[in-house]
Amino acid sequence: MNSCTEKEGIKDARISQSAIGNVYDRIAPLYNIWANLTESRARGRAIELAGLTGGQTILEVAVGTGLAFNEIVKKNPHGNNIGIDISDGMLKRAHLLLNKTGNNNYSLKKGTAFSLEIETESVDILFNNYMFDLIQYDDMSRILAEFRRVLKKNGRLVLVNMTKGEKWGSNIYDRIYSLKPELMGGCRGVRLAEKLGQDGFSVETREYHQQFLFPSEVIIAQKM
Ligand SMILES: C[S@@+](CC[C@H](N)C(=O)[O-])C[C@H]1O[C@@H](n2cnc3c(N)ncnc32)[C@H](O)[C@@H]1O
Repeated sequence: MNSCTEKEGIKDARISQSAIGNVYDRIAPLYNIWANLTESRARGRAIELAGLTGGQTILEVAVGTGLAFNEIVKKNPHGNNIGIDISDGMLKRAHLLLNKTGNNNYSLKKGTAFSLEIETESVDILFNNYMFDLIQYDDMSRILAEFRRVLKKNGRLVLVNMTKGEKWGSNIYDRIYSLKPELMGGCRGVRLAEKLGQDGFSVETREYHQQFLFPSEVIIAQKM
């Protein structure tokens, strides 16, 4: 196998899940600089499209430093807001950000997308931003099955990923990944709309966004 093979047009994830928690513990102090430069528009658009009406049970898996979660909690002050991440360093930053808002209607827990400690069919909207671009293609269906388990019937999945570049200059980040995946925090471009269709979701919308040449996809899907 060469150092960068592909499956279904998606490159291998070259940082293992067992290492990813430590990688993000180290990245955590600087993560928001990167995120605000390259991902803020796609993240904001996902929140706009999600259909937050208040009083819902919202789960964000891979909550990171809480950039989306903070906005979600503000929009869902009387609902149930749960954030999960595998990295203590990222969770610590999320706690600091959420504490500033003064809204304490949330819980943040350490955990993995592969096995969510969440009741079956209890979640109205599941957010997952910039995580599948770290996951090995062969592991994606397992996580999507876990997402389907916790979502209520017709519950919504709101997904943002680093995607493959569709406009001028946007392939630069995938090239950097091919040379040194650590420089991209292990993220490479993926396209997940078709995969979601195969794994029990119906895709309502898929949008392409580019910020500072960084390519993102925003997908809104419903559990079938
Ligand atoms: C690129 S960051 C994105 C953080 C946040 N969602 C955002 O958009 O700012 C990837 C996050 O996924 C988390 N992560 C990676 N694999 C995970 C897993 N299996 N379960 C839960 N979190 C995971 C990492 O710890 C990290 O916080």
